[in-house]
Amino acid sequence: MFNAIALFASSRRHGNTGKFVDRIATNLKFEVVDLSEVRMSAYDYEHRNRNDDFEPLMKRVLEFDQLVFATPVYWYAVAPAMKVFLDRISDFLELPDLLNEGRRLRGKRAYVVCTSIYEEPPASFMNAFRDTFNYLGIRFGGVAHANCRDGYVNARHDNDADSFARQVASAGRE
Ligand SMILES: Cc1cc2nc3c(=O)[nH]c(=O)nc-3n(C[C@H](O)[C@H](O)[C@H](O)COP(=O)(O)O)c2cc1C
Repeated sequence: MFNAIALFASSRRHGNTGKFVDRIATNLKFEVVDLSEVRMSAYDYEHRNRNDDFEPLMKRVLEFDQLVFATPVYWYAVAPAMKVFLDRISDFLELPDLLNEGRRLRGKRAYVVCTSIYEEPPASFMNAFRDTFNYLGIRFGGVAHANCRDGYVNARHDNDADSFARQVASAGRE
């Protein structure tokens, strides 16, 4: 079973990345959390933001075996809310009362769902995810990428989303 949750960041909810991840989520039946709706501030060395919504969200995320990171490529990198989310994972590696929870990231499987205006996502973008997963002990499950140079073309991109979902579902049955 695909026991997953998606973390989604984009400057528009129903743009190219939103449509692409929603299609995959409908196929695989997982929830898409829009990070722009989450009250979450940037990483703070003094952890003065512990009362925002990041901790409860992260504790919920840790209940799932598979994590889906969905973001467009903005300047060879992730959308700002995704960067904040990734930075805030550090809280779970630093705060003594969160360390045990943070260790639960190990062994999870993560997927990247992204859109850009080229055939492939940039190496810098994918390497940041791969290196982060590797550091956290998360296994990289794969990437679904849509070239949206001409926008989100339903016939083509829905089909790509469906085949990615089929691939992930069949890998889960092996
Ligand atoms: C601020 C900004 C920066 C972008 N930078 C890149 C980029 O570095 N590489 C790329 O291929 N596309 C880039 N694009 C294009 C987007 O990745 C592409 O249009 C994507 O499908 C937008 O998804 P969205 O509708 O979820 O925002 C950029 C778009 C914006 C708005």
